[in-house]
Amino acid sequence: MSPLSKTRTLRRVLYGCRLPVLASSSNNKFRPFCYSYSVSHKAEPKKMAAERVLPQIFQYVDQNVESYKNLLKEAVAIPSVSSDAKHRDDCVRMVEWMKEKLKEVGASTELRDIGFQTLEGKQVKLPPVLVGALGNDSKKNTICIYGHLDVQPALKSDGWDSEPFELVERDGKLFGRGSTDDKGPVLGWLHAINAYKNVGSELPVNLKFVFECMEESSSQGLDELLLEKLKPEGFFDTVDYVCISDNYWLGTTKPCITYGLRGISYYFLEIECAKMDLHSGVFGGTVYEAMSDLIYLMNTLIDKDGKILITDIYKSVAPLLETEKELYHTIDFDPEAYRKSIDAYKLPHNAVKEQLLMHRWRYPSLSLHGIEGAHFQTGAKTVIPGKVVGKFSIRIVPNQEPEEVEKLVFDYINAKWAERGSPNKMSISAQSGRAWTEDPDHPHYQAAARATKLIYQTDPDMSREGGSIPVTITLQEASGRNVLLLPMGAGDDMAHSQNEKLNVRNYIEGIKLFAAYLYEVGKLPKQ
Ligand code: BES
Ligand code: MN
Ligand code: MN
Repeated sequence: MSPLSKTRTLRRVLYGCRLPVLASSSNNKFRPFCYSYSVSHKAEPKKMAAERVLPQIFQYVDQNVESYKNLLKEAVAIPSVSSDAKHRDDCVRMVEWMKEKLKEVGASTELRDIGFQTLEGKQVKLPPVLVGALGNDSKKNTICIYGHLDVQPALKSDGWDSEPFELVERDGKLFGRGSTDDKGPVLGWLHAINAYKNVGSELPVNLKFVFECMEESSSQGLDELLLEKLKPEGFFDTVDYVCISDNYWLGTTKPCITYGLRGISYYFLEIECAKMDLHSGVFGGTVYEAMSDLIYLMNTLIDKDGKILITDIYKSVAPLLETEKELYHTIDFDPEAYRKSIDAYKLPHNAVKEQLLMHRWRYPSLSLHGIEGAHFQTGAKTVIPGKVVGKFSIRIVPNQEPEEVEKLVFDYINAKWAERGSPNKMSISAQSGRAWTEDPDHPHYQAAARATKLIYQTDPDMSREGGSIPVTITLQEASGRNVLLLPMGAGDDMAHSQNEKLNVRNYIEGIKLFAAYLYEVGKLPKQ
């Protein structure tokens, strides 16, 4: 039996050191943004009557829709795919592009080096993290905004109706990779700031920015930058609130604010039977095949109804409290519309709304993702792969700790491997990030809810999410402040999938939402 190895690529040692201080930007004079504006304003007093600010901003936003679309088009055209070494230069270009945009709205910015990663067997430089600040008025609240500029891979041949990296508008939807995840929302912040400036109104808060380009690849290097560099340098000392816009509404009509994310524990299960691939006509019947071992092991992980079979995996899951149970009844979620949106044949858990929500938000799930080294192209290739790597992940939840989940998985795979009794070489490694939850009764959430109601004329649902944003819990712990997820896009945006899109309405109203959110947080007491 092979020993199990464990690599945690989320934890990496950094090299080098940069000077800390972010220059104050409060004296930066307003400089016009580089894209065109359709309105000009008379000189206004810096502190406009409060009730006039937002209506003016909303009007301004409505008059600049074309320029917002154009800027998103520019951003989508940079194929910043973080998982592919060939696109690393594009990732760097993307971060530099955003840096210029932040500078144009008066922010101080710096690109922070976060070292190297091993990718496709080579040492590759990680894209720098864009760190910025705008305003340092000690009387104002400071919000730290996080977003990511990298995207998932996409090819037209995956089944896109148009080129993935060319933003195109059809039926009020902006199609393109990264439109909703997460370039649209990141640009939304920029446009909101710019709108304040262009109506001649001071920003109601100070802002700090952390924009990275590795989120889709587990945010490598970011934790170390935040905890070992930015925190000791005092970056979080003035932060009162943290806001992330990197998720979506639950459905397509009702907005939500999000107070929880599942974590992820990702596994690489490697089996080797020979040093090279083999002709199945020549070698078939005379070798122990790696692929059949792998399929055997992968098939022991989960049953047809989605129950995870790993021993004790549900043991540490937070118990369901009566008070929590109540929450799911009030959420606006239509299982049948959800089923139809993905053309699934049938939903598990008898398609009961509350059960579906709980299995998305507060129970773990296990997915089999793929097999590296296996034949996948068209045609009937008659090969026995010499080495295969099975990939699967578990979305982990409170109170599951990654180390504990990894141990349960390793022990289980080890036991199943022993049962299998194969002579082949097996190893498994993992990389994990924790789940996150926040207090949705906090005044920060109430402020975001007021902003949402102002824009969408309805009270948002307080929701959780099944997806993961690894840095969320790090930001919560590093700042010690309340963290909130404020989605821009809709539930059918299809992030990571073919034909990812952002509705024009969500983009434009989202810009207004961000402006209203800044305004509402500006009115909160300092933390
Ligand atoms: N924006 C998503 C996170 C997300 C997904 C939020 C679904 C809400 C619903 C983010 O860009 C993402 O895709 N995260 C990865 C993280 C992983 C690579 C560590 C994920 O969830 O798979
Ligand atoms: Mn995202
Ligand atoms: Mn994503």
